[in-house]
This record gives sequence, structure tokens and C-alpha cells, in this order.
Amino acid sequence: MWRRIFVISCVLLYVLATLPDIGAPGYSCDADVMKKSKKVPTNVNSVRPADIKVIMALGDSLTAANGAGAEDPVAVVLQYRGLAFQAGGDKSLDEHVTIPNILKKYNPDIFGYSNGIGSPNVWEIARLNVAMPGANAKDLPGQARQLVSLLQQHTEVVNMKEDWKLLNIFIGGNDICGYCRKPVEDSPYNCAQNISQAVQIIYDNVPRVIVSVTGMLHLEMLRQTDTGHWFCQRLHHDECGCESNKNFTDADIRQACYDYNKYEKAFETAGTFEKDDFTYVVQPMFQDTLIPPMEDGKPTQKFFAPDCFHFSQWGHGLVSTYLWNNILQPVGSKSTVSNMSVPLLPLACPDPACPFIRTPKNSQDCSKYMTPHA
Ligand SMILES: *[C@@H]1O[C@H](CO)[C@@H](O)[C@H](O)[C@H]1NC(C)=O
Ligand SMILES: *[C@@H]1O[C@H](CO)[C@@H](O)[C@H](O)[C@H]1NC(C)=O
Ligand SMILES: *[C@@H]1O[C@H](CO)[C@@H](O)[C@H](O)[C@H]1NC(C)=O
Repeated sequence: MWRRIFVISCVLLYVLATLPDIGAPGYSCDADVMKKSKKVPTNVNSVRPADIKVIMALGDSLTAANGAGAEDPVAVVLQYRGLAFQAGGDKSLDEHVTIPNILKKYNPDIFGYSNGIGSPNVWEIARLNVAMPGANAKDLPGQARQLVSLLQQHTEVVNMKEDWKLLNIFIGGNDICGYCRKPVEDSPYNCAQNISQAVQIIYDNVPRVIVSVTGMLHLEMLRQTDTGHWFCQRLHHDECGCESNKNFTDADIRQACYDYNKYEKAFETAGTFEKDDFTYVVQPMFQDTLIPPMEDGKPTQKFFAPDCFHFSQWGHGLVSTYLWNNILQPVGSKSTVSNMSVPLLPLACPDPACPFIRTPKNSQDCSKYMTPHA
């Protein structure tokens, strides 16, 4: 009996240890671009990666990282927050790429990332990643209020006035999965309005924030990756209704996802959320990414959790490499295509000519914002 349990445990441990992942061992940039500013910046266009003290996130199950460490479809209910590309801090950058794990190389004291498995109401695990599985854009204003209240409660770890904060937002999967049923109510335009209501709440209540929105992903890719996987098709019938609705063509989904991106971008172009200590920037890495993750000429499931829908830890690692690259690219020249089959390694480094998190304004003329490093 014990012998059998021992054997089973060893097999389980073996499987866990062998789930593929993406790390960036030895990541390092020119010493000067890794330093913080000499004085804490007062302008949002002069914020170096090392000046970021707090990381926060809003979103759905892709930011809660459902199933990222799962071995079987049942474990997809678990929120592997610590592995989330936008907000996870599990392992180290050597083993697993996430935006917080990269930022730790610039500022080891960064706060707010998640560790381990759990829901957003477990502070020790979720920290400032309040993403909720199943969330739609219309749930984001509620998440934003929750985030504000967490920041107000936890003054022992966050200096609301002084600390520079990076807020990562990724939303839209559930909206597009339901859009074919409610094309007016859940239109990309309306969803974007709800995202903007959420950002407005942060804008009105939290100083010193860079809002970084990861633009919507092309969900029609799932149809390609699901082909031949009966189990996944069946599962997605419930997880993503419009994926299996033949009346909603690939072209319809593609257009809805393009529109979603377009309306997210509109707030950036209009400067809706611009002030000296606040900005809003869209990372367009998924905008024109239409080819699914491939291996040996066929769509691969390696990118996905066992439900073929959520990202695996490997998927989270891969997405992080492209997102980080986008964060450091100037607005107007950000890549809009990512190769979902191979990570973008080595990881990008800040441009010595503009060593800041890139914003709409420092992308136009960085010289105005240059400040000395420590
Ligand atoms: C979402 O945005 C739409 C369009 O502006 C608005 O009618 C709706 O009330 C918003 N929903 C929520 C929950 O705020
Ligand atoms: C597709 O459209 C047809 C005709 O309008 C309708 O009868 C059918 O119920 C629709 N199918 C789905 C899954 O919505
Ligand atoms: C992704 O990269 C692989 C390996 O370099 C290459 O074979 C493939 O064509 C690329 N795919 C896309 C969509 O660019």
C-alpha cells in the first residue's frame, strides 16, 4: 500500500518537474539602464524599470493563470497566480519568465506580485493581482475599486503617494466567447467603455501609475488548435460558446478581436488618461498574431493548459517575453505580431537613449524627460 503511494508520488513529482517552462537564465543589461533614477521621478515619462515599486493586475482567468501548472483538466479550476505572465512571482527568472520576475532583476524589492495558488481574496497569495476567473470587461470597474481599497488598506507595504506602480490589464476573452449571443451589449466598443471606467477609477484614486493594457488576443486561433481534439471542442462548448457557434465565422471573430484592440487603443491616442504622474499605454503584441502555436508543422497544445484554452506555464513564459519587449518599445513602433511557437529570447533591454518604460509622450521626444540614474 505505502509502496504504491510512494511510486505514485514519485511519478507525480516527476511529471510536475517535467512540465515544460521558459526561463531566462543570466538576463542582464548594461548596468546603467538597470539602475533606478537618482531621485524618485515626478513625471510618468521618466520612470525607469528599476523605479517601479509596485505591480498590480486586473483581468480574467488568463491573469489568474487558471491551469498554468495543471496536469489534468480538473486542475484547471486552480488559479496558479504565481505563474501569471502579468503578475506572477513564482520561481525565479532563470526558470520562469513573468513581468514581475523580470522587474525583480531591476528592483528586488518590488511588491504586489502573486505567489502560489489561490483566489483574489487571499492576500498572502494574490497580493495586488485581483484578476477573477470568468471576468468580463464589465467586471473591471469592480476589480479597480477592490484594488484601490487594497492599496488604501496596506499602507505598511505601499506608499500610495510616492511609489511608482505598474498596472497590467488583460481582458476580453470572455467577452468574445459570449459576443455572438449579445452582439450589442457585449460589443467591443461597449467592452472598451467598461475598461475605461475601470481605468478612470484608478486615475481618480491612485497617483503615480503606468497602465499597461495587453491588447486582445485572436480567439479564432482556438478553432485551429482544437481541430482533431474532440475533448477540447467539447470542453470549449461550455468555456467559450461562440467558438463552436458556426454562425459566428472565423472572419467575424477576427473582426471582433481587431475592433477590441482598436477601441482599447483609442484611449491612448486620445490621451484620455494622461497627466504628469499617470499614463495609459496599449501593448499590441497580439493585434496581428493570427498563427497559433505550432510544433513540427502542426498546432501544438504545449502552449495551453490541459483544457486547450488557458495558457500553460510555458505559454505564460512565452507571452511574457513578447510583452516585456512591447513595454520597452516606443509607442508607434511596437511589434504587433508575436511568434507563439518560440519565445523572444534573449529578453529585451531598455534603450540607453530612452531607458524608461515607454509612454506615448517619451516615445515622441524622450530628450525632454531624460534624468540621471543613481
Ligand atoms: C459598460 O459600458 C456600457 C457602455 O458604456 C454601459 O452601458 C454599461 O453600464 C457598463 N457596464 C457596467 C457594469 O459598468
Ligand atoms: C444559427 O443561425 C440559424 C439561422 O438563423 C439559427 O436557426 C441557429 O439557431 C443558429 N445557431 C446558433 C448556434 O446560434
Ligand atoms: C516562428 O519561428 C519559427 C522558428 O524560428 C519559424 O519556423 C516559424 O515560421 C515562425 N512562425 C511565425 C508565425 O513567424
